[in-house]
Amino acid sequence: MTALTRSPFWALATAFTVLQRTAAGPTNSPSASCSVKPLLVDLSAEVPRMMDLINNTRLPDLPVYPGVGSSMGIDLDVLKSLKDEWLNEFDWEEEQEEMNKLNHYTAVIEGLTVHFTHEESDDPAAIPLLINHGWPGSSFLEFGPVLDALTASAETEYGTNVSFHVVAPSLPGFAFSDPAPENWTLADTARIYNALMTNVLGYPTFAVHGTAHGAAVAYTLYEDHNTTTRAAHFSFIPFFPPTAEAVAAMGITLDPLEQFMLKRSDDWGRTGNAYYLLQLNTPNTIGLALYDSPVGQLAWIGEKYIDWSDPSAGVPPSLLTRREVLRCVSLYYLTHTFVSSIYTYAQNPMAFRHAYTKPPTTAPLLLSQFKYNVGFWPRQVVETVGNLVEYRNHELGGNFPALDNPDALIEDIRRIGDYWEQS
Ligand SMILES: *[C@@H]1O[C@H](CO)[C@@H](O)[C@H](O)[C@H]1NC(C)=O
Ligand SMILES: *[C@@H]1O[C@H](CO)[C@@H](O)[C@H](O)[C@H]1NC(C)=O
Ligand SMILES: *[C@@H]1O[C@H](CO)[C@@H](O)[C@H](O)[C@H]1NC(C)=O
Ligand SMILES: *[C@@H]1O[C@H](CO)[C@@H](O)[C@H](O)[C@H]1NC(C)=O
Repeated sequence: MTALTRSPFWALATAFTVLQRTAAGPTNSPSASCSVKPLLVDLSAEVPRMMDLINNTRLPDLPVYPGVGSSMGIDLDVLKSLKDEWLNEFDWEEEQEEMNKLNHYTAVIEGLTVHFTHEESDDPAAIPLLINHGWPGSSFLEFGPVLDALTASAETEYGTNVSFHVVAPSLPGFAFSDPAPENWTLADTARIYNALMTNVLGYPTFAVHGTAHGAAVAYTLYEDHNTTTRAAHFSFIPFFPPTAEAVAAMGITLDPLEQFMLKRSDDWGRTGNAYYLLQLNTPNTIGLALYDSPVGQLAWIGEKYIDWSDPSAGVPPSLLTRREVLRCVSLYYLTHTFVSSIYTYAQNPMAFRHAYTKPPTTAPLLLSQFKYNVGFWPRQVVETVGNLVEYRNHELGGNFPALDNPDALIEDIRRIGDYWEQS
């Protein structure tokens, strides 16, 4: 894959060789070799073109076949109303200002520029935590709503005092991270994230949270970097979920919520995976077709946000609003990362494994599943892929729990504190 032309953004002139640490920060001194630089999100120059393209995109007046709703893909009326909101109410400058309230950096690791946000707790005993998702999330963006709570001091249900230093990278090929080299895999990403946490940021041990392709990265850290990755929380694991037939054959009985999730998981395998096969096999076709089409990306990405989230998305406590979808799609369009982001599928045909095996680690594994996600694993299955200590299923939420059930995600991630042992 050739390097993509990146959007201009204004990196602050001062290049720090190490991050400025508070007195409360880890005592290990970060490596000086990774040229860490602060980054300011500034994509304003690209916005007029995006708005013109949105304005000039023609959609049919009426659906070709009315009455099919969203059963045949994104509903025309939904797409039209999102497009209208983008054109008439959405304000990129406001979004950008919000994004710049976070501490953004880039670091060059193994020659690759990696973008991340880094929010530190005031608590000297805070647990370093790396959080990441997969497409269509996968950048720092969707974790905004959980950062304040995770960096604050809090108590778990069991009374453990806990807070986190939170690092949210953008996967290679997403947002301000360089596109990955051609044969790069998520295991390579795990290796550079390990270097980011230890060598660059100076955290000798850390915890991870991952979902979707981000779960593949987090799981590889859990599996292959067991001296540094000392706890892992997932809301999706990088294994193909068992089919309903397989679950029945294992003699596992499920409660009604689990039965619902198993059905959604099965449906994904039957009718929900067209995008997956396309992005795996022919990413250039859909990638180039939509590369310069904001409304096209809105249809492709928006459908996933709508389909994979709770039907009550956008109604508090869910923060998965229409505006959230628009700013996510805007970030893809404005950073020119649509092609490089979906290439992650082509580069990682084995990201989700068929064989359930136990990795060589003593670190605790915690799993939280959310009702409208598209993969479900019974407790008995999860026990075979790690040192499972917490298994929770939630009635609210889906594939984007940081947005559509942030409170539950925060509470469950905090439980890492109950099992954390500095080794
Ligand atoms: C969209 O295009 C029309 C026709 O050129 C123009 O009048 C209108 O101001 C544009 N709207 C926006 C929001 O740019
Ligand atoms: C929790 O940690 C904070 C910050 O270190 C400390 O001030 C507080 O006393 C701790 N609380 C408990 C219950 O240990
Ligand atoms: C990537 O892998 C393919 C297949 O193994 C190989 O033909 C190609 O040369 C590799 N490309 C790079 C840049 O290493
Ligand atoms: C890490 O993995 C190795 C095998 O690769 C194993 O021998 C070792 O006990 C593991 N260490 C921890 C701390 O889990």
